[in-house]
Amino acid sequence: ELMDEVMGISHLEEQIKQKLKIKKVIIVPGNSDDNKAVIKDIGKSTYKYLMSILKDNVIIGVTGGNTMFEFAQCLPEFKKEKNILVVPARGGLGREVEIQSNTIAATVGKKLCGSYRLLHVPDNVGKDIMESLMSEPDINTTLEYIKNVNILIFGIGKSEDMAERRKMDLEGIRLINSRGAVGEAFGHYFNRNGEKVYETSTIGITVEDFKSIENAIGIAGGSKKAEAIIAISKVKKDLVLITDQGAANKILELI
Ligand code: G3H
Repeated sequence: ELMDEVMGISHLEEQIKQKLKIKKVIIVPGNSDDNKAVIKDIGKSTYKYLMSILKDNVIIGVTGGNTMFEFAQCLPEFKKEKNILVVPARGGLGREVEIQSNTIAATVGKKLCGSYRLLHVPDNVGKDIMESLMSEPDINTTLEYIKNVNILIFGIGKSEDMAERRKMDLEGIRLINSRGAVGEAFGHYFNRNGEKVYETSTIGITVEDFKSIENAIGIAGGSKKAEAIIAISKVKKDLVLITDQGAANKILELI
C-alpha cells in the first residue's frame, strides 16, 4: 500500500509539472489546509532538495511566512563552514517578527554555519525616504547581494490572505481585487496570468531579478493556494515547486 502511495505521488508530481510547465515538482502527502503538520513536511522536503543543489560560496535569499518558518526550524545545524551568505529577499512586509524574512534569514544563516545580512526597511514609507534608505551603504550592499542570489527559497500566498496579514486598507484590497490578484510572493501580487498587478512599497527583489535567479524554490501547500501557485508558475518557467497533495489535486481541477 505504501508502494501505491509512493507511485501515486510520483505520478501526481509528473502531472503537475506538465500542467504548470515548470522545472520540477515535489509533493508531500496530505493537505496543509486541514493539517498544519503537513507544512512541516514541506519544510523537510525543502531541506532535502536544498541539500541536493547546495554548493560552497553561494548566496541564498529567503522570504517570510509560516512555511518558510517551518523550513528554517527543520534545518539541522551545519558543523562545517561552506561560505554561505543568507539575505532576506525583501525588506519589511510588516508581519509578526517570528515569521519575518529578516528573522528567517538569521536562523537559516546561523544553522548553515554561514553568515547573514538583514534589511531593516519599514513598510509603506514614502518614495523619498525609500530612495534615501537605498543609498545607505549598508542597505545598498545588502541590495547588491540580493541581486546576486544563487538560490531563492520563497513562500507563496493567496493574495487575499496576504493582504489581510499585511493589514492592507480597504482601498488597497479593492484595487488588487479589481486587478485580478490571486497570488502573492516576495511582496508582489500577481494575477492569473502571472502579471504583476501590485507591489508593496519596500525594497529588495524585483520580478526581473526573480526571473534570472538560477534556483528558485517556491514552497506552498494547501488547496486554497492552488490559484496562487498557478499564477507564480507563469512568472518563472524554471521554478521548482514544493507543495502538498491538497494543492496538487486542486491545481488539476483548475487546469
Ligand atoms: O508571501 C507569501 C507568504 O510567504 C506565504 O506565507 O507560508 O504563511 O502561507 P505562509
